[in-house]
Amino acid sequence: MNDDELINEVLKVIMNRCTVRAYDPKSLSQKEIDMIIYGAIRAPTAGNMMFYSILEVKNQEMKEKLVKTCDNQPHIAKAPLVLIFLADMQRWYDYYTISGVPERCAKINHIYRTPDESDLLLACCDALIAAQNAVITAESMGIGSCYIGDIIENIEVHREMFNLPKWVFPITLLCFGYPKQDPSKRILKERYPKRFIHFTDTYNRFNKDEFVEMFQDFEKETLVNYAENLGQDYYLRKTGSAFSQEMSRSVKVAIQDWIKKE
Ligand SMILES: Cc1cc2nc3c(=O)[nH]c(=O)nc-3n(C[C@H](O)[C@H](O)[C@H](O)COP(=O)(O)O)c2cc1C
Repeated sequence: MNDDELINEVLKVIMNRCTVRAYDPKSLSQKEIDMIIYGAIRAPTAGNMMFYSILEVKNQEMKEKLVKTCDNQPHIAKAPLVLIFLADMQRWYDYYTISGVPERCAKINHIYRTPDESDLLLACCDALIAAQNAVITAESMGIGSCYIGDIIENIEVHREMFNLPKWVFPITLLCFGYPKQDPSKRILKERYPKRFIHFTDTYNRFNKDEFVEMFQDFEKETLVNYAENLGQDYYLRKTGSAFSQEMSRSVKVAIQDWIKKE
């Protein structure tokens, strides 16, 4: 969408952003890194409680290891800045313990609840909203970024690597760096037409013809093996793929550990 009447500098940044996976090796200055972090921190946060932490991975060996644990993505090791966004309830529960909240609750007969699934989702919301603010902050300075969703795989390895306690979950990783490619030569990826994404008042489900319309700009010539159409292709490459199965396993473990009552 390009409504010239409404366009401003912020919208230009948002509308021209694309994922950047090839980085100029030049490092980011400390000022730039700090600004990306400050941008993240200014994001809205539930109850102004900041249920997230941001872990900067500087160690090159750790970055190389992340390449492997995040489904073999070499751009992680080549990114000048790598930030992991952690859904974090641990800080608050440590504070509650230090503040004598459990004892106080017992005394006044008030329930003392340790983190549940709802707290995990809320903390993930906080962490992801902060992450996207970091993306836009970076983009506004000409610094590209790439989300790595695969950080939710291999939870046991990542916990050990980063010393993550029980109520900390790595919900996303962001790679940052100056783009190798000239941003003016960018080709933005298509999105589904607005009517398939934006509903009014009630949810819409779609029939076969509508799905054909939804994917009309996405039809590909080559489908993966065994796929007869785009739906089968997406399932085999994404939702039903090996990386997705590892995500499913890893997140099940993480949720079970998170909600386990001692
Ligand atoms: C939650 C999430 C996870 C993603 N994970 C990966 C990833 O593991 N590796 C990668 O190269 N890109 C990843 N991406 C980037 C998407 O592939 C990209 O946003 C999408 O293809 C649309 O392209 P665009 O950002 O250039 O518009 C991820 C994006 C999101 C939002």
